[in-house]
Amino acid sequence: MRYLVTAALPYANGPLHIGHIAGAYLPADIFVRYLRLKGEEALYICGSDEHGVAITLRALQEGTSPQAIIDKYHPLLERSLRSLGISVDYYGRTSDPLHHQVGQHFFQRLLAKGWLEKRAVEQFWDPQAQAFLPDRYIVGTCPHCSYEEAYGDQCERCGALLSPTDLIAPRSRLTGAAPEKRLSEQYYLRLDALQPQIEEYIHRQEWKSNVGPVIENWLRAGLAPRAVTRDLNWGIPVPLPEMQGKVLYVWFEAPLGYISITQKWAAATGSPERWMDFWKSPDTRIIHFIGKDNIVFHTIIFPAVLMAVDEGYTLPAAVPANEFLNLEGRKISTSRRWTVDIHEYLEVAPDRIDELRFVLTALMPQTKDRDFTWEEFATRINNELVATLTNLLHRILTLLWRNGGRTPIQIDEELLQARAQAAALIGERIEKFDFSGALEALLHLAQLANKTLTERSPWHQAPEQALRTLAAYGDLVAAMGTLLEPFLPVRVAPRLRELLGCPLFSWERLVQPAPLVEEIVLSSSPEPLVRKLTAEELRLLREKLLPSQSSGDSTSSADYISMQDFQKVQLRVVTIRSAERVPKADKLLKLVVESHDGLHTVVSGVAQHYEPEALIGQQAVWVANLTPRTLRGIQSEGMLLFAEGENGELIRVLPERPVSPGSLVR
Ligand code: MF3
Ligand code: ZN
Repeated sequence: MRYLVTAALPYANGPLHIGHIAGAYLPADIFVRYLRLKGEEALYICGSDEHGVAITLRALQEGTSPQAIIDKYHPLLERSLRSLGISVDYYGRTSDPLHHQVGQHFFQRLLAKGWLEKRAVEQFWDPQAQAFLPDRYIVGTCPHCSYEEAYGDQCERCGALLSPTDLIAPRSRLTGAAPEKRLSEQYYLRLDALQPQIEEYIHRQEWKSNVGPVIENWLRAGLAPRAVTRDLNWGIPVPLPEMQGKVLYVWFEAPLGYISITQKWAAATGSPERWMDFWKSPDTRIIHFIGKDNIVFHTIIFPAVLMAVDEGYTLPAAVPANEFLNLEGRKISTSRRWTVDIHEYLEVAPDRIDELRFVLTALMPQTKDRDFTWEEFATRINNELVATLTNLLHRILTLLWRNGGRTPIQIDEELLQARAQAAALIGERIEKFDFSGALEALLHLAQLANKTLTERSPWHQAPEQALRTLAAYGDLVAAMGTLLEPFLPVRVAPRLRELLGCPLFSWERLVQPAPLVEEIVLSSSPEPLVRKLTAEELRLLREKLLPSQSSGDSTSSADYISMQDFQKVQLRVVTIRSAERVPKADKLLKLVVESHDGLHTVVSGVAQHYEPEALIGQQAVWVANLTPRTLRGIQSEGMLLFAEGENGELIRVLPERPVSPGSLVR
């Protein structure tokens, strides 16, 4: 089986942000990297979408030409993707003459086959500019909220969907003139006539749970003919003399970019015919990674065009659309400057690219919208990537290094099985487009290894025994050099392999419970693969990357405190020596706890969650240096920590195993 993988062609009218990456470019990358490790032929095609109102409006805003806009953003987009390790094989652009040819060819072919129909429609006309106006070029007062700058297609204040005729006192954004109506001729694609074919195709495929219902809604409503031309002076000219000054609709031609860019790729490899292996072969699976706002274009309109043109094109096998990633509880918006742009992230944290990939994979909005917060960014890196995964590797490698750096591996059936099963599960989940689930399976394997390593505690063993214990993990570290590759390919996985002198193994070998290597030979003293993110680093990231959030928005997340502030809090583990209810207070318990310096009385509001007897002799975490206060006449020192459960119940926070009373928590 051969694979053609594409990710939505980004508009060359602005930078990429974390939502784009988590939505399409990263999942597509994990997918192709995994396929390649499996030994499959997988081509990853992408490029800039350089036509349409998105570009011309941007030019209008920046007071420059559309050409200047695309020439500015096209290279920026490509650089951002490449820096994130997005392994696109060819990054093209739709302004390419070859793409224009492909677009015009498709149009002509559809016309010849009778799938296009000409209609005269009323459109807005700017009498001063002598030009037709797209909906977005018209502004006026919103009939719903009276916002005076609402656009002809949507009010950005109240979100209402509008048409230009809804606006009160509409005016042209080009000249300020009042728009008039004029008849204009456009070509319409007969989606209505194609509906039976489309339905047959749709029902032959499996769709992701968040995609299928969207398609069904469109089909149920009945497909209507759709204009594939526009009055605009930027785009692919409609190849008919009578259509002077009109262009192909951007959503008609942009998806054809997947084809024209594959042709560019093939030409660049020196075998121009090779593009047909991907587009005209039943042995190729074509997979389009996109965001949810692109679903109808990729599952209905583009396949309809491919069918109608009747030139033997392979139809998309899957369209794994993702939902949206929000930022600190709000929709990402470039125009409102509520965004984390990739080129800026790369400037602030050039050495933390795999970390960003890790977090965006963990938070991938695969079936529902997800929320990115800087706080979670830090905890995912520190508690999962570092604490669970890379620290494990570092612990093993450091001990092996201390033991001479060259260690024959010890076969450990349990660990081999666990590694093989995890590799199989990761693969299965990736193939189902469940990338965060795949990452979880990887972390789960690391957790298991952490657990067995703690149980076996080589650090408490005599040197030879310790070495044997560690040597049982040799296979796992070697496997990790490949298991991490789809997720962390920029620095972490290559460094690990370099340190071990290990190649990339095929995924087939990873799913076999047979040792991958005979010995581990470390080439140098291991450095931690990932450093924890300090509070200071986090503060800098937030400050530099969310400049607008200081505007006092109440929905942004909690304020940060410095490490120094945090260290003022003295936390200790204490043992509860006695517990009794406080009379006439149904929420309060009076507890006496033992710390390093003796006994203290604490009044705690957990009487509805714990029987006093159940607490006696148990440990708890105690905030030691709170100013004492008097509750119901009892002097209470400090407080005990409880986690809040899903239903509001309180659950005691505990060290993983008992420690002596008064031990510091830090
Ligand atoms: N530029 C579009 C967007 O950002 C996506 C185009 S995908 C393609 O929403 F298939 F049309 F290229
Ligand atoms: Zn409004």
